[in-house]
This record gives sequence, structure tokens and C-alpha cells, in this order.
Amino acid sequence: MARKVRGLDVGTMNLAGAVQDDKGNIKIKLMRHCFLDVDVNPFTKKMLLQQKVQYVEFGKKVYVLGESAFELANIMNKVIRRPMKAGVMSPDEADAAPIFGLLVEAVIGKAEEPGIPCYYSVPANPVDADFNIVYHSGIILGALKNLGYVGKEMNEGHAVVFSELAEQDFTGIGISFGGGMVNVCVSYKTIPAVAFSTSRSGDWIDKNVAHVLGINQTRAAAIKEKGVNIKNPKNREHEAIVIYYRNLISYTLANIKAKFESAENIPHFPDPVEIVCSGGTALIGGFVEVVEDELKKIEFPIPVSKVRLAEEPLNATAKGCLLAALNDEEIVAEEVKEDTKGQSKKSSK
Ligand SMILES: Nc1ncnc2c1ncn2[C@@H]1O[C@H](COP(=O)(O)OP(=O)(O)OP(=O)(O)O)[C@@H](O)[C@H]1O
Ligand SMILES: [Mg+2]
Repeated sequence: MARKVRGLDVGTMNLAGAVQDDKGNIKIKLMRHCFLDVDVNPFTKKMLLQQKVQYVEFGKKVYVLGESAFELANIMNKVIRRPMKAGVMSPDEADAAPIFGLLVEAVIGKAEEPGIPCYYSVPANPVDADFNIVYHSGIILGALKNLGYVGKEMNEGHAVVFSELAEQDFTGIGISFGGGMVNVCVSYKTIPAVAFSTSRSGDWIDKNVAHVLGINQTRAAAIKEKGVNIKNPKNREHEAIVIYYRNLISYTLANIKAKFESAENIPHFPDPVEIVCSGGTALIGGFVEVVEDELKKIEFPIPVSKVRLAEEPLNATAKGCLLAALNDEEIVAEEVKEDTKGQSKKSSK
């Protein structure tokens, strides 16, 4: 089997794996990043079979993974478990590491041979939270190693730049509006000039909308994900969503401005650049228009030519990770070629 590098987006809500098929097309597998543990007994097994649910047995438990866990949790009135919270592996789910490995295997499979590189996304340093990614990265590296990969970290915003700004010479602003975090990368010819994350994103909107409307968070998320246009709210619920979306977007832009103005060795952008928005939170109707509105309200330090959505907002990070891995493979191949040329010159002397 051919050796195939991988890209992996490890998100609070979704996991996405990217690989090239034999024709060179990029294939993405997306999965809800959650699971449900069920005690094994003949009754539950029968039910899982009846529901045609895919599950794995591990120790004394049965684990249902991804979307099926969601559906089954409703039927059984149980709460699903999520390995991550607010952008990183949750310490409350410390015993979920083996299950995380199974979820990763479901989206990228096992390596065809040991040592295949897999680039995985990590959040950039947060501006408004206190965490580091040491534990987070450790868990992911361990899971990848068990599947035969060598894991390599890639900043999520940078992955968006890799995926979406090739035609702009990798110069511009890539932003992933995810579930747990927003990740920003201002890039100049592939080099990140400013990269950071904030903790106001999809979950933050749900929590606040739920609070003001007196409903639970799951319900708030369901309303948000179904047919809302934040340029054209239809009722009180939509209006609450608009208020928090506008706040989230202006907060993100204000943070880019502040970071950009305070950072040292900032490149000068002679030409206007594009802002590319990815991530599930950017899928709401009217998102780009509201970013444009909010941009007009501040003196943004970088000239902007256009705001646009990523081609496939839920897949951009995984695709960017894969492209980075492929790029590295090419460089390594070139180096090996150079090296063998040198060797053969030496040996022919
Ligand atoms: N159609 C939609 N409209 C609005 N929001 C949506 C839509 N679909 C999904 N979302 C939201 O997108 C978020 C998940 O996006 P995404 O998969 O990019 O996050 P993630 O990568 O798992 O999280 P993170 O990068 O923050 O760790 C959730 O908050 C979800 O409610
Ligand atoms: Mg993400």
C-alpha cells in the first residue's frame, strides 16, 4: 500500500481527517467528536444491533462513537461525553484517551507503514483564557503514535491560510470560527506574523443565547444551526443570536487590531489582503456581510480587499494540515534526492 501522509483537525465539536486518494484528490472524513459509554449486557447489545449503531467494545464497556452517540444518547436519555472542552483536551475526561484514539482511527485509519507524518491542528495561544497545549498535544501525539503516525503540530489559523490562501501567495488573514474557540493567523508569505485564539465562539454564543432566552444550551445551538440569517433576524430568538454574533465578530477584529499594533517585527502589507473565514460558526447566513459591517466600524490596521468564506468551512483546517504535510514530504524528498546525488558523486570519485 502506498505511503500517505495525513491531516487531522482536532476540534472541540468535530474531528476531521484528510488524505489524498490515488488520483491525488483530497478526501475529508468528518465526525462528531463525542462518544457514549454503555454497560455491556445482552439487552444493550441487542438494542445497538437493532439501531444499526456502530460500536466498539473496550474493557467492560461498549462505546458508541460520533453522530450515533448523539442519537443514542437521546433514545437512552443519557448525556454524551466529549473529550475536549473550550479548544483543548478536557481534564474532566482524562480516562477518555483510548476512546479518543478510536475516534482518530475512524477518521484517518491506521498508517500504511510506521512513521508516516500526520499534521494535527492545535489552538494558538489564547488572549482571554489560561491554558497551554502541553497536555492536549501529548494526548494527540500518543494516539497518533499508536496508529503508526508521527504527529506534527500545526496552528489552526495557519492551517486555514494553507488551505485557502494559496492563490494569494499565503498572504492574508485566516480565521477559524469553531465551537470552542476562534483561531486567527495573519500570514505574510506563509509565515505567521500574528497568531492567537480567543474563547468566544460557537459554544459561547449558545451559552449566552440560552441564558437570555431561558432555554438550555442544546436547544439554543439547534435554533442557531437552522436557517438563521444574522442580517435578517425573523424573531426574538434570532435577534438574540444576532447580538452575540456581532459581539463575537467585533471582539475578534478588535483583538486582531490590538495584537497587530502591539506585536514587534510586523511585516508591512503593501497590497490589501483577504480575510478568509472558516469553521462551523461561520456557516450561519449573513456571516460575511456582518464581518464587513463590523470591519467598517473600526480602523483596521491592515488593508482588506475582500472577506470571504472558506470553500468548505468545516474541512479547511484538516485540508490545511494535509497540505502542510504534503509540502514537507516534497521538501524531504528533494533533500533525499540532493543527498543521494552527493553520495553518488562521492562514490564515483
Ligand atoms: N449552520 C450553522 N450555523 C451556525 N453555526 C453552526 C452551523 N453548523 C455548525 N455550527 C456551529 O459550529 C461550531 C462547530 O464548528 P467547528 O466544527 O468548526 O468547531 P471545532 O473545530 O470542532 O471547534 P474548535 O476549533 O473551536 O475546537 C459549533 O458551535 C456549531 O454549533
Ligand atoms: Mg476547529
